[in-house]
Amino acid sequence: MRISYYGHACFSIEYNGSILLTDPFITPNELAKGMNMDAIKADYILLTHGHQDHLADLEKIAHRTGALLISNFELVSHFSNLGVNGHPMNHGGKKTFEFGTVKMVQAVHSSVLPDGSNGGNPAGFVIWDKEEKNVVYIAGDTALTMDMKLIPLTCPPLDVAILPIGDNFTMGYEDAVLASDFVECDQVIGCHYDTFGYIKIDHEAARQAFIKKNKELILLEIGETQII
Ligand code: NI
Ligand code: MN
Repeated sequence: MRISYYGHACFSIEYNGSILLTDPFITPNELAKGMNMDAIKADYILLTHGHQDHLADLEKIAHRTGALLISNFELVSHFSNLGVNGHPMNHGGKKTFEFGTVKMVQAVHSSVLPDGSNGGNPAGFVIWDKEEKNVVYIAGDTALTMDMKLIPLTCPPLDVAILPIGDNFTMGYEDAVLASDFVECDQVIGCHYDTFGYIKIDHEAARQAFIKKNKELILLEIGETQII
């Protein structure tokens, strides 16, 4: 799979011929001003929760691309009223799509929409293919939680975990090291850091915290692609 970073918690994942876009928040992100919005492709949009810094560009991209939204029931209902096609899920459920299987997993956070309406519960996703390979965990905004230990018990072995590391609103990189133990995956791509003052981090300290435990933390430049 090819994983490209579009800033904050937004990734484009080329997966079995489909393009999965996560948590689209690009135009309000100062750090992502080099991104060309019109060039962003998506067959599916995976939305972890209802906060503005995860969905600012969702409606626009979904309308332009016709992408199918995969999210919790409440967020899919919200966006269906805005003309976005979606597939609703909830925690613990999995569903096989054309590109592979998506399981919705627990995240410890909040999910009220910017207008104050109910955004359901925040979630993460685990994705795998027909051979139960190319397994990626997208944690979403979350604290470190013991529920992460359920992932290796209920999903195929992970190849990569995309974890928030910016602290303040989510776990910081120290807890993300433990999270990578809990999900049994030593290759981590960091997200949800540096975008705002509250979540600016020391990249070298973050990398070293993982190296100390014989793990790898990948910090992509915005626009950079990593092949896993
Ligand atoms: Ni959030
Ligand atoms: Mn967030």
